[in-house]
Amino acid sequence: MIIAIDGFSSCGKSTLAKQLASKLNFIFIDSGAMYRAVALYLINENIHLDNIDEIDKALANIHITFEKIDGINTTFLNGNNVEQDIRSLKVSGHVSEVSALSEVRKKMVALQRDMAGNQGIVMDGRDIGTVVFPDADIKFFITADPIVRAQRRYNELISKNQHAELHDVISNIQHRDKIDSTREDSPLVRAQDAILLDNTDITISEQFEFAMNIIHQKYPELAVK
Ligand code: DC
Repeated sequence: MIIAIDGFSSCGKSTLAKQLASKLNFIFIDSGAMYRAVALYLINENIHLDNIDEIDKALANIHITFEKIDGINTTFLNGNNVEQDIRSLKVSGHVSEVSALSEVRKKMVALQRDMAGNQGIVMDGRDIGTVVFPDADIKFFITADPIVRAQRRYNELISKNQHAELHDVISNIQHRDKIDSTREDSPLVRAQDAILLDNTDITISEQFEFAMNIIHQKYPELAVK
């Protein structure tokens, strides 16, 4: 069974995905972390985005895995824990351009389908319900006011002792919204059968309740576990 959660940047998609995975005993896969890991690799190796040959070579050398450390989903790039580095504003400023490249998307989509295997999964991203798993059992499309999203992301960065200015976070979110939804390959769009959830004025637990109600209506046997 697959639950797909798509939506704009910093909308709380992964918060909801983690809660659902934990409640339903499903595997959570953060597809954005994979694009972030690729962006980090290209930044570290100084590879320019117009150099497609170098990017192809780099993709062959990129191995992304996830592990749970102290209950927290942690991203590894070639065996190194990059969970903190991939959340930096530097990577956030670069990742939309990286994820617009078809070469990168092709590899990530294949990896995402492989990772899913035959287990119950919750995957969040931009194209999960449209491209990666168009037949997903339940699809959510999440949105919220951009300023509210920026404030949430800013608070998160500050709470993790990362340096950030609110105006930089706002412009990063606007920049990513624009590129993610206008790129040619797999732009961010709501799948026709995705349930729309605007969480501007609702709390994390209200959002969780809303999603569980939908799941409960469709699969009563799942939600009571
Ligand atoms: O979910 P996130 O903010 O961590 O994602 C980082 C970037 O990766 C986002 O700006 C767009 C891209 N992305 C994508 O293109 N497709 C996905 N399935 C997930 C993320």
